[in-house]
Amino acid sequence: MERKITVLSNKEIAPKIFKLTAAAKIPDKTRCGNFVHIQLKEKPLRRPFCICDFSRELETLTIVYEVKGEGTKLLSGYQKGTCLDALFPLGNGFDIKSAKKIFLVGGGLGTAVLPAAFKSYEGEFTSFIGFKSKENIILAEELSLGGDLFVSTEDGSFGEKGFVTDCVKREISLRKPDIILACGPEPMLKSLQKISCQFGTKTLVSLEERMGCGVGACVVCAVKIKRDGQEHNMRVCKDGPVFDINEVVFN
Ligand SMILES: Cc1cc2nc3c(=O)[nH]c(=O)nc-3n(C[C@H](O)[C@H](O)[C@H](O)COP(=O)(O)OP(=O)(O)OC[C@H]3O[C@@H](n4cnc5c(N)ncnc54)[C@H](O)[C@@H]3O)c2cc1C
Ligand code: FES
Repeated sequence: MERKITVLSNKEIAPKIFKLTAAAKIPDKTRCGNFVHIQLKEKPLRRPFCICDFSRELETLTIVYEVKGEGTKLLSGYQKGTCLDALFPLGNGFDIKSAKKIFLVGGGLGTAVLPAAFKSYEGEFTSFIGFKSKENIILAEELSLGGDLFVSTEDGSFGEKGFVTDCVKREISLRKPDIILACGPEPMLKSLQKISCQFGTKTLVSLEERMGCGVGACVVCAVKIKRDGQEHNMRVCKDGPVFDINEVVFN
């Protein structure tokens, strides 16, 4: 599963947020919700990023990442032509079964999970993305190509003022989706968990945890999942990163 990827472009698209597209052969099983574990040249531990988008025809893989620590700072400096080792596709993607009306919900950087949905599933998509402010908006153009798009900002500087979940709650009774696929910060996911319960809509979420090995061996990435009436420690890298929102035990 270790593959070579070669940077084609690596650009800042919002403050401290970069979009990196690399030349890569895309395995057939790749789908939305999978992640890629990238080996940086200067660091022993790999860094995980969700597969934001891919093209089998063009043989490209895209990630969108925030510069947080040393690793992502180094990554942001890689120029066109840089060759990297990458393990992908890792983790379980979203399993939408026969769902056709699909809501995609992204909060902040969690939006980076969503564009790959259009390459992975057939259906009628409505996307909802929320950010603190206008300057933080990412991937709106890409998501508008796949269906209706609602953008909200907390300060009202673009789109609807408020939280992305306010918008989801309003539209859910009008559009009656079969499934919601989501990624975002914990307060957003907690609110979505309530909405999912209230409307009885199946909701799958991609979770993020600090990772070590990325292949299920170290248990650094454990999260609490309630299944069959019992709480289990499950690994985001191997058992996830996608889980049913109603099984997630938030802090
Ligand atoms: C499944 C998954 C998907 C992710 N997708 C994205 C994405 O699409 N875009 C994005 O910007 N970020 C994503 N992250 C978070 C991203 O992996 C971290 O921001 C990144 O590893 C930080 O590395 P660093 O060297 O800059 O930070 P440092 O804090 O210097 O990292 C030190 C170590 O901690 C690990 N680490 C630190 N923060 C995280 C974290 N949040 N998750 C996992 N490991 C961490 C690093 O991999 C490294 O081994 C994802 C994480 C997971 C688990
Ligand atoms: S990162 Fe090691 S088990 Fe998940």
